[in-house]
Amino acid sequence: MNLAVMLADTTTTIAWVILLVSVLGWVIYGLGNLRSSKREIGAEIKLAANRKPYYDDERLEGEKIQRTQLIGLLCLAVTTIALPLYWILEPGRMVGAEKEFQHQFETWGTGLFSTTADGGYNCAGCHGGMKGGGGVASYAISDPKTGQVKQVNWKAPAINTVFYRYSEEEVRFILEYGRPFSPMSAWGLVGGGPMNEQQIQTVIEYVKSIEIPRDENGKLPDEKQQEIQAEAERLVKAGTYASLGEALFNLDLGSGNYSCARCHTKGWSYGEPEITGGGAFGPNLTGGSAVRQFPQRDEMIEFIKGGSELGKRYGQQGQGSGRMPAFGLVLTDEQIGAVIDYVRGL
Ligand code: HEC
Ligand code: HEC
Repeated sequence: MNLAVMLADTTTTIAWVILLVSVLGWVIYGLGNLRSSKREIGAEIKLAANRKPYYDDERLEGEKIQRTQLIGLLCLAVTTIALPLYWILEPGRMVGAEKEFQHQFETWGTGLFSTTADGGYNCAGCHGGMKGGGGVASYAISDPKTGQVKQVNWKAPAINTVFYRYSEEEVRFILEYGRPFSPMSAWGLVGGGPMNEQQIQTVIEYVKSIEIPRDENGKLPDEKQQEIQAEAERLVKAGTYASLGEALFNLDLGSGNYSCARCHTKGWSYGEPEITGGGAFGPNLTGGSAVRQFPQRDEMIEFIKGGSELGKRYGQQGQGSGRMPAFGLVLTDEQIGAVIDYVRGL
């Protein structure tokens, strides 16, 4: 249960108790009043000489007093019944308003996320529709040696798991500054893009809303992990890769969002892979460099599970930038183990 709902629950309970007690009080007071009023004897007050005659006793003690009492009663009723009642309804209204607000953001986010044709910034166009399940983007690359420009199809990873792999700050960085040398351009004003801070936040709220629902441990649900496993096993059986680790390193599923190759192998994302693990957006992992960085296998497991964090040290002499995603919530321990053994052999 989230805090708002819990708070709402306790305030509601307290308000109910107060309401019940005050209603009960009113009933007892009313009954007591009925009884004592029968014993009351009318008082005779002489009119002071310096005052003009007021209502006669009959009117004063009858109609007038009743009206005044009625007004008093109504005022009391408002404070003792209407206020607790308001108090009872308020937390519900607050939770509702919060949901409504969240919903409003997601709706705005839908507009920003949608394709160019639908007036959005085309996240949907590259990332596989409004569910962000992964797609491709057309992109022009130039050959570094010949300078020749050619068109390629660059895999745009599924983004319905980004918050499994990155913190919100890290996602904001990707959106604001983009991925240089890839079709993912900078979207934030700070990175030279078109979106202001609020729009970036609104898109982030939308991306959260399309996330694949997590299991009770916050991990990728079983059936999804089995899908990854099955695809990796299939590739080994088909002879595409020699080991499960190699298959996972290069896994295409969701346009490569579970893979390592899309960042560590140049050209992998557009079907022209150069040296596997030779380094691209992420550093070169070949020549035993992973073993040099992480002499202890366990330490490397921790790093792959948690990803890098901005400024934080890792391994022998690494300093994170927050750009290496965390795999602890998307891959099983066995899968991470298999990938690591593969990488340590590169
Ligand atoms: C022109 C196509 C294109 C558009 C438009 C686009 N992206 Fe991307 N995006 C990509 C590609 C391609 C990558 C992967 C780049 C790489 O290989 O590192 C990417 C990467 C990302 C990532 C990082 C994912 C990861 O797992 O590393 C996020 C998050 C993201 N995009 C969100 C968005 C959002 C939100 C929008 C809309 C504001 C958007 N993208 C618009 C093509 C696009
Ligand atoms: C979104 C891109 C991306 C993906 C996907 C990715 N990495 Fe990385 N990786 C990086 C970056 C960037 C660094 C450098 C550290 C930093 O900047 O925080 C890094 C660093 C590393 C390092 C440390 C290298 C060194 O010598 O410092 C290892 C090992 C590593 N990655 C392994 C993997 C494995 C294994 C996978 C797949 C399970 C993977 N990476 C997936 C981007 C990525």
